[in-house]
Amino acid sequence: MIAPKETIRELRPEELDRLEPLWLALQDHHGRISPRLAGMTKRTPEQSWTRRRSKYQGWFGDADTFVLVAEREDELVGYAFVTIGPGYASWDCGDRLAELETLSVAPGLRGLGLGSRLLGAVRQRLAAEAIKHLVVTSAVTNVDAHSFYERHGLVRAHVILAGPTTPAEDQRAHQIPPDA
Ligand SMILES: CC(C)(COP(=O)(O)OP(=O)(O)OC[C@H]1O[C@@H](n2cnc3c(N)ncnc32)[C@H](O)[C@@H]1OP(=O)(O)O)[C@@H](O)C(=O)NCCC(=O)NCCS
Repeated sequence: MIAPKETIRELRPEELDRLEPLWLALQDHHGRISPRLAGMTKRTPEQSWTRRRSKYQGWFGDADTFVLVAEREDELVGYAFVTIGPGYASWDCGDRLAELETLSVAPGLRGLGLGSRLLGAVRQRLAAEAIKHLVVTSAVTNVDAHSFYERHGLVRAHVILAGPTTPAEDQRAHQIPPDA
């Protein structure tokens, strides 16, 4: 059997900026599959990375957070960013529940098994830490990602609804002059 070209290893927090191109590849994918999400337009890549980076930095403040990267000849070609929290109050998920915050594979290498290897490595690590369950949130239009996760045994569990704070009838009222 030929050994895979990519090594899976843990990202050190000081390497955070190396994730930018892979995050932007995912943001680009989001922009193509959902140019508007519940009325919201896409951010610029700069805005997007600034915000995501800040979230990642915050999550790194928690010792349980970990990131696995796929590396090929010193280039990062995929990553999985995982946070761990106390989990559900309504359902018994154990003491801690893992959330896969991001899974991204470089566009030219998708469909070759890298995402499966990353997800497998994440699950292996979580199981070793006695964490029994993992959740991931995905845009409703990301149908390829849904089939990917379902092929790996995850099931649809939540529905997230999104909308403007101003109800539609109020928006119309503001746009249409009262005497029109
Ligand atoms: C989803 C993703 C991480 C899967 O990694 P991957 O290395 O492409 O996946 P693998 O090669 O291990 O498995 C291939 C499976 O992924 C699916 N897949 C999802 N998105 C894909 C894409 N853009 N290109 C090719 N395959 C894709 C394929 O349909 C295939 O599923 P199938 O076997 O049921 O047909 C990767 O395709 C990706 O980065 N997509 C864009 C970002 C994204 O949607 N991330 C998930 C956010 S929740």
